[in-house]
Amino acid sequence: MARCDLEVEGGEMGKALVTETALRDHVHRLGELHPPISLDSVDRTVRRPHLVLSEYGHVIDYLARVELEVDRNVLELLTLLPDANQTDRTFYRDVWQPQETQHGLILDRLQQDLGRPAAAPDTETVSAKIRVLGALSHLRPVHEVTRLLYYLTGAATEKSAVLAYGRLSGGMRRLGEHAIARTVIDQIKRQEPGHFAYYALSARWMIQHRVLAPWQVHLARVLRRRSFGLVGANNEVQRAQFGELVQSLDLTDGLPAYAHQISVVERELLWAGQQGMYVPPYVLKALDDALELARSGQYADPIRT
Ligand SMILES: [Fe+2]
Ligand SMILES: [Fe+2]
Repeated sequence: MARCDLEVEGGEMGKALVTETALRDHVHRLGELHPPISLDSVDRTVRRPHLVLSEYGHVIDYLARVELEVDRNVLELLTLLPDANQTDRTFYRDVWQPQETQHGLILDRLQQDLGRPAAAPDTETVSAKIRVLGALSHLRPVHEVTRLLYYLTGAATEKSAVLAYGRLSGGMRRLGEHAIARTVIDQIKRQEPGHFAYYALSARWMIQHRVLAPWQVHLARVLRRRSFGLVGANNEVQRAQFGELVQSLDLTDGLPAYAHQISVVERELLWAGQQGMYVPPYVLKALDDALELARSGQYADPIRT
């Protein structure tokens, strides 16, 4: 009976079965096809720096910071998943961290070209919440729940990156900044879908192979609802900055559609039982709150003109 519940709630029946070999191959392929982007391969020629600065300077800063915080994300991963398997370790060590680090360094260089200060990433602070969950993860049943939540967070984060870089690429072209669009943003953008696919497939693998008992899936739902956060938005200032990013990338009108996309994996794996759920309410609420903070202007970017 429990298994039937999972099948219905997981909604995975129509999806191809994910295997551990497929996950391993995916990681291997990503490493081969997408070496870290070298600084020499990008053309940072900006035709109208003042315009780029005022329209997208704060967006570039946000993305640079979040990319550079990959070092902290690795510490979080090591805390949360003391028992991470070999494929996860290869992914973060050989593929993900080296790629994201270069994304961050390139964007940070670009924002400094524009006259902004360097990004100020927090690469060290592992929150108390994560340390508590990490301590509990030494218990196998908790480790599995944490692992699923980790993949869901990764999927939402990477999908957010895909969408942000897509919009930023279009925006740079609109401003006539073709070198930046093509050699900076598009190069970075091409590496994000592979990260998203890794987290999505890993989460799906867990549900398809019934790694979690129904009570664990239920616990994952409860914890996800309570702990969901927008990527890189760990305090009120950063939430306001995320709201500004949403405004500047013209996502305000299509907010539910944006939320729909970043929640694609958790809707499939956690909420399929809620027929027709377009967006989990906690995702839309997080976005609405960020926008409200941005609109209040209390944390407005001082460099924006
Ligand atoms: Fe990235
Ligand atoms: Fe990424």
